[in-house]
Amino acid sequence: MKTIIEPFKIKSIEPINFTTEREREAYLRRAFYNMFLLPAEEVLIDLLTDSGTSAMSARQWAGMMEGDEAYAGAKSFFRFEHKVRQLTGLRYIIPTHQGRAAEKILFTIVGGKGKYIPNNSHFDTTRANIEFSGAEAVDFPTQEGRDPDVIADFKGNMDVTGLEEFIVRVGATNIPLCMMTVTNNSGGGQPVSMQNIRETKAVCTKHGIPLFLDACRFAENAYFIKKREKGYADVPVKDIVKEMFSYADGSTMSAKKDAIVNMGGFLALNDEALATQARNLLIVTEGFPTYGGLAGRDLEAIAQGLEEVLDEHYLHYRIRSVEYLGERLSTAGVPILQPPGGHAIYLNAKKFLPHVPVEEYPGQSVVVELYRLGGIRSVEIGSVMFGKYDQQGKLIPARMELVRLAIPRRVYTQSHIDYVIEVVIEAHQRQNVLKGYRIIEEAPMLRHFTAKFEPIA
Ligand code: F0G
Repeated sequence: MKTIIEPFKIKSIEPINFTTEREREAYLRRAFYNMFLLPAEEVLIDLLTDSGTSAMSARQWAGMMEGDEAYAGAKSFFRFEHKVRQLTGLRYIIPTHQGRAAEKILFTIVGGKGKYIPNNSHFDTTRANIEFSGAEAVDFPTQEGRDPDVIADFKGNMDVTGLEEFIVRVGATNIPLCMMTVTNNSGGGQPVSMQNIRETKAVCTKHGIPLFLDACRFAENAYFIKKREKGYADVPVKDIVKEMFSYADGSTMSAKKDAIVNMGGFLALNDEALATQARNLLIVTEGFPTYGGLAGRDLEAIAQGLEEVLDEHYLHYRIRSVEYLGERLSTAGVPILQPPGGHAIYLNAKKFLPHVPVEEYPGQSVVVELYRLGGIRSVEIGSVMFGKYDQQGKLIPARMELVRLAIPRRVYTQSHIDYVIEVVIEAHQRQNVLKGYRIIEEAPMLRHFTAKFEPIA
């Protein structure tokens, strides 16, 4: 087999700013060891997120020049609406400035005290929006999805039995909708199988609960279905996507992922009454329903990106290049969540730093070291992000302590990835000298964005 090459040429570049270890140590102190507080200029390879950080194509940029900036009824909106409708088969398409804006609108309407929203695994903003409405966000990962070491094809799946037991216990009337996140970001960028979507839908239908897809990474999920699920090897990804959405009554999407744009999102619905309510809220918080917080040019770029992301040469390169990073790290003995996800590799910080207790945030320690050593920015997805406190103020740790190396789409080449591999391996070799961190300041919600840390001496 020949080397899988990036299926594009580079037309426009952005220089990387090189820094030394000594400089980075000073930057770290100034940023209170929080990667979100670092200026991007001080980062060499930015793997903080794959969200909004991707490179657009020449066609997308050309589309931006075509952007119709009319306040109402812009041509770009109709192109966007047509594309999203074609893709999802859903009737009412409501643009939002990003995914969480769609979540905010949706859960303002259907959430509230006494309500429950199940999901295979909620992402942080979805959870926050649900909880902010007063409702409760509940996760139903499968047994294998909880174990970072198990190698299985669809670790993003919903625990359908657990979901149904829950529905029966709390009552379907208290569950305005059920969500399904594809791929399962909090669970390691792991895919959900078509069979699991089908079974989840069947349970939802039986209890009269609508099913919504959190579709941020729908194309990556569809490609995994093609590669791993029986009966799909010869089905075009486009048709797999169609089938996935055929089970959905609605969808939220952050276009910053699989629409390969820097900003955007949407809420798509079949329920007309819900769509009317959503549009009314949209006008208050985002904008008129034909732009919803976006410029006409953004809508053009999304419409084009949704087409490009279905190119199977692109998806092959995308999934394989992330897998390459995972394989090289695991061969070198670096503990990662297995198998590699679609958009990211997740280091298993509990194994990376077995001597650092969860109360001292081993993931944060790894994050800091990757930056210090190699200028790589990653993100902790563990007890800093998801930890809570009990009545006594003791930490209730997250299910897993992970460090995510998220790969922006079409941005870094194989040599960048090889450099990342070298730095992670070196950090792992230094594991014995790495220490834990304590939080010295934090916000009541989504604390990871602004928390300040200090190293434990
Ligand atoms: N749902 C999932 C599964 C996500 O991964 C994200 C964002 C959102 C919803 C919210 O979308 O950022 O456009 O408001 N995830 C980014 C990440 C931030 O880094 O994984 P948004």
